[in-house]
Amino acid sequence: MDHFDYQNGELFAEEVPLARIAETVGTPFYCYSTATLERHYKIFSEAFDDKEATVCFAVKANGNIAVLKTLGNLGAGADVVSMGELKRALAAGIPTDKIVFSGVGKTAEELAFAVEKEIFQINVESAPELETLSAVASSLGKEQAIAIRINPDVDAKTHTKIATGKSENKFGIEWDKAPEIFAKAAALPGIKVAGVAVHIGSQILDLKPFGEAFARMGDIIAALRVDGHDISRLDLGGGLGIPYEADQLSSPEDYATVVKETTAGLDCHLIFEPGRMIAGNAGVLVSKVVYVKEGETRDFAIVDAAMNDLVRPSMYEAHHDIIPVKQPAGGANIRPMDVVGPICETGDTFAKQRPLPPLESDDLVAFRSAGAYGAVMSSTYNARPLIPEVLVKGNAFSIIRKRVEVEEQMANERVPDWLKG
Ligand code: LLP
Repeated sequence: MDHFDYQNGELFAEEVPLARIAETVGTPFYCYSTATLERHYKIFSEAFDDKEATVCFAVKANGNIAVLKTLGNLGAGADVVSMGELKRALAAGIPTDKIVFSGVGKTAEELAFAVEKEIFQINVESAPELETLSAVASSLGKEQAIAIRINPDVDAKTHTKIATGKSENKFGIEWDKAPEIFAKAAALPGIKVAGVAVHIGSQILDLKPFGEAFARMGDIIAALRVDGHDISRLDLGGGLGIPYEADQLSSPEDYATVVKETTAGLDCHLIFEPGRMIAGNAGVLVSKVVYVKEGETRDFAIVDAAMNDLVRPSMYEAHHDIIPVKQPAGGANIRPMDVVGPICETGDTFAKQRPLPPLESDDLVAFRSAGAYGAVMSSTYNARPLIPEVLVKGNAFSIIRKRVEVEEQMANERVPDWLKG
């Protein structure tokens, strides 16, 4: 459930009409709902109230400082995958003892920054990374708590570009090599082996792969303990999917049941890294129809948002519901339309043959489920601005990222001397 509903014939974010925000900030823009962010965070974290657990929001899903602060105020930690994300989490006031650093390619510089900040855990994904971290931490005179990410070789049954748990994927250590890498880690200075980590992919709606992967972690932990390792933490990653379409179901409660069944008796501090489940349906992208073009074979609604603003449809063939901001009259003539952006390539298509009520120039539409992997993946392709992000709370709204205009982008560019004059 989210807080984007029709009231008196128009779409609101909580108590604010989206049309009013559009008048103030212009289009396109992202709009997030505080009540929805809070609701989703609480549903997830309360499902583990009876466990020793830390919920680290995956900053990659939505790294806006105001969003991170909103979640941080409820007790959320952060899962970061770059020095940039770590700086964002720190800027939002997320306590360092709730920050986990994941990712396959952390550089020595990034690791040093994280070690100096004394973050809760670094999830190591390879033997060379282990060596680099050991050297970095030792030279700083620190001991860094780590988990080692294990690749469970489980098919998450999601889009291939966002599946991470198969042995052919680049992530983690092959599960049967765990004893070897843990033995190596135990012998290295500057690191303290604390746990095991796993993350099998994203937008996962079938809970079975989670169950398989988590059960495998249980087996691995048991074996590692026999080898004498003190394994006190189990990081289960993120990945729980959300309903982008009406017939999709996602249940944090059922996910929690799978977690509890598969980790019962392990006596581990559980760590979670949910991103999409918390932020996805807490945001919409609002755009304006520029033209409606009626073609020979199909009709196009050309909107002022484009693939640079929301890349998911063109990158993953992702579905986002598109609804008019002005509520369509009952019995409106629904017809199929292609919804496209203004960018000069066919990939700039949000939806093909989508049943939509009549639209005309200047109508506002909202792309739902755009709060995760929306703004963070945007670019300035076609010299377009980075669009604003707005946060609503009750009847108030605030611009939490201003539009970054092309003049500001060009200000970072330099013309070499030989081209001057
Ligand atoms: N932890 C790790 C180590 C991850 O790699 C990810 C996502 C997460 C947590 C959060 O997963 P979530 O709970 O959000 O599913 N850009 C893609 C999604 C990429 C996800 C990458 N890793 C999209 O727009 O669908």
